Amino acid sequence: MKKPILIGNWKNKPGSLGEARSILIGLRKKSAVFKKLDTYIAPPEVYYESVSERVKGFAHLASQGLPRVEKGTYTGVISLEVLRNFGVRLAILGHSEERALGETDALVAKKVQIALKSGIKPLVCIGEREHDTDGNHLEFIRRQMKTSLEGVKKKEIAEIMIAYEPVWAIGKRAKDAITPEGLTEMVIFIRRILTDMYGRDIAEKIPILYGGSVEPRNAEILYKDTGVRGFLVGHESLNHKEFEQIAESLI
Ligand code: PGA
Repeated sequence: MKKPILIGNWKNKPGSLGEARSILIGLRKKSAVFKKLDTYIAPPEVYYESVSERVKGFAHLASQGLPRVEKGTYTGVISLEVLRNFGVRLAILGHSEERALGETDALVAKKVQIALKSGIKPLVCIGEREHDTDGNHLEFIRRQMKTSLEGVKKKEIAEIMIAYEPVWAIGKRAKDAITPEGLTEMVIFIRRILTDMYGRDIAEKIPILYGGSVEPRNAEILYKDTGVRGFLVGHESLNHKEFEQIAESLI
């Protein structure tokens, strides 16, 4: 059986290297737990060195995005070469917070291509702003998936992972996250879109993760029987104890 996947998205936190180190020391103490999963940590770039040294052997380094250009000299852009040399294995693409700052589906699709060419696994985030009873969010998700994955060929899709992150559930508490029933429905719906795009055999193998207020208290119910392969965790990934408890619930 494939390992469950756990990704810690640190966003632009913590505020100091000292704090970053203390999270890493805490994680290291529980490395045996994280080793049972495919664990990734996506820190701010300034902490890459510390993180890559300290998570060796139990987690991989991930980036929170990718440059929009493959090669060349650009001010203010971190290059693919640097990312690869630090050992970045996966890139979070199309996160709603980046989309809110202007990243379009077309740009996400372009970055997916850049990731595929450079051997960095793309984790494509999708998610509606509002969940309504008329089902408008379903049409939104369908469009967002199709445009964000535009140009991805059948033989490439096995490299991709999807993170379903409803925007309304991000950065809240467990009680505001999606329900297990709601998540199960969405995972079925996303797989149906992937089946339309790539055929059933391929669609079944694509990992779908959930993100949005995953905490120790809801991790188990959101994992069990909902069809997700794991979680993309924001605020709780900055607390090593909580992050470890979330990891335990995936084992
Ligand atoms: P959250 O963030 O866990 O703080 O809701 C998830 C994310 O934005 O990836």
